Amino acid sequence: MCGIFGYIGDKKTAPRMVLAGLKTLEYRGYDSWGVAVVPSKQSTNNTIVVKKKAGKIGDATVNDLPEGSLAFGHTRWATHGGVTDKNAHPHLDCSKTVAVIHNGIVENYETLRNELIKKGHRFVSETDTEVIAHLVEEYLKKFSVLPRDAAPAFSKAVQATFKDLEGLNAIIVINTAAEEMVAARNGSPLVVGFGHGENFLASDPAALLPYTKQVHFLEDDEMVIVSKGSIHIFHAHTGERVRPRKQLLTWTTEEAEKGKYPFFMLKEIHEQAGLLSEIASESPEQSILIAKELKKAPRVYLVGAGTSAHAARSASYFFSLVANKLVNYGIASEFDHRLSVIPENGALMALSQSGETMDLLEVVKKAKEKNIKIFSLVNVVGSTLWRMSDEHLAIGAGPEKGVASTKAFITKIAHLLLIAYAMAGDIKGGQKSLVRAAKATKEVTSKAYTQTIMKLAKKLKDEQHLYIIGHGLSYCAALESALKIKEISYIHAEGIPAGELKHGTLALVTKGTICMVFAPHDEHYQSTMANAMEMKARGGYIIGISDKNDDVFDEFLQVPDAGIATIIPNIVVAQLLAYYLTIERGFDPDMPRNLAKSVTVK
Ligand code: G6P
Repeated sequence: MCGIFGYIGDKKTAPRMVLAGLKTLEYRGYDSWGVAVVPSKQSTNNTIVVKKKAGKIGDATVNDLPEGSLAFGHTRWATHGGVTDKNAHPHLDCSKTVAVIHNGIVENYETLRNELIKKGHRFVSETDTEVIAHLVEEYLKKFSVLPRDAAPAFSKAVQATFKDLEGLNAIIVINTAAEEMVAARNGSPLVVGFGHGENFLASDPAALLPYTKQVHFLEDDEMVIVSKGSIHIFHAHTGERVRPRKQLLTWTTEEAEKGKYPFFMLKEIHEQAGLLSEIASESPEQSILIAKELKKAPRVYLVGAGTSAHAARSASYFFSLVANKLVNYGIASEFDHRLSVIPENGALMALSQSGETMDLLEVVKKAKEKNIKIFSLVNVVGSTLWRMSDEHLAIGAGPEKGVASTKAFITKIAHLLLIAYAMAGDIKGGQKSLVRAAKATKEVTSKAYTQTIMKLAKKLKDEQHLYIIGHGLSYCAALESALKIKEISYIHAEGIPAGELKHGTLALVTKGTICMVFAPHDEHYQSTMANAMEMKARGGYIIGISDKNDDVFDEFLQVPDAGIATIIPNIVVAQLLAYYLTIERGFDPDMPRNLAKSVTVK
């Protein structure tokens, strides 16, 4: 949540580099944006220059900002204070010589703000963030006795400020008197990038790919002083020096770009068939190891948020169907009450694309306190969840930028299917199943198939409600499909267990109500069709998604049978439908309103 990018080095084009960095990070938040620069030729009043605006970055430029080799910027996902130019980051102190960008929530900001107002500080925004700039200003007065003390005083002032903040926060502060960025993290992610004669800070490693692949992920309560020639990491409370834990990023710049596609989401949907084939053919060693460990555990829980929670739910079916093991699943923000019943020798498997979702990290933290073993499936290697886990598996989706998760979901469930097969001692069976899923996915993402979906999207674009039903794994598909449609096309969609229709939702079905039905020819086929008929009898317009057509269907989307892995092509079809509905309705599928890719607040 909130994109952060900071640069210090030899280049005088820091503001433009920062803007470019922010454009790659906009999926983290896009309510507003802003860039601050310490001008190279200091103006007479020696102040930081800021440009900030409400709205998406779009084609914005920062050509009107002065040149400078120290700049940082922010894309906002509003928590405190409306979406206005004034509330956009960076925020300045009264003297305009200190600027801050922030990700998180300062929980005690009201108390701090009132104290600062009493001391004469003037606030110009409604944000919690602005208190940070004024607090640093206040501490600077205290610590800067002599001008030559300016640099140490600055980092000391940021350290003291950070210690005063309650809540989970990542901050970066700059100051006209010190040629450095000082940053601190508790909860919200920050990564330091090591360059040559230049260094970087970002909220997300993908933004650093054009400049460096050597990074250090800050741990909670770590602080860093980043100047152009050095990176000094230390503990915010003890002051103890921390040796950089340098990590190499494996993603490429091209992977993080749209290429020939108009939107990231479409590119990411089309990458899925290839990713499935890769997972089917790569060494399954880590899946086998995790399967062994999970098999031993008396109780296993799969947890995630949003789309990752749907992956958890789907996988719980894989484990019972393939490995005859009861594995529970849970939604991270609702998981609290279950933690108390997981025994110490139980296992918690956390699923996350970003590895930074706060709701999930909170569960993992609490589970660790209980000595529960943590397994994770993560896309961003090195992320907080990755580092917190006893055993982890990289899902290998590559950078995912569309806010609506697609390929991270498919790669997660592909790995989970393999783990279930490994648990049953039949990893080859799992690999075969993924090969079938890859083939089916290729078919449903072909040009001809896409045209069928585009036609359907045209027909459905003015609908206000969609009901999606399925049994078993198809129920999981229904839930995930509904989420995709809701989050980007803003059409209300509901995933319902097919058998539950008659217990309530059927009351909403009248003439012309759109009902999507996942009906693969599995053991639930007959009952699913009976439920579809119940809808049709009440006027429902039935869109069948199945390997074979049926008279009940008013529209038919054929999805090849891939056995237990049919959920994969089924969901890919729904991803495409969600995408084209969004295009038809004139919205941006990559940046849906009010949402962000990585939710680092509770
Ligand atoms: C946000 C994103 C969703 C994502 C969820 C969990 O809400 O918009 O697309 O599914 O977070 O994210 P994670 O990174 O933990 O998988």
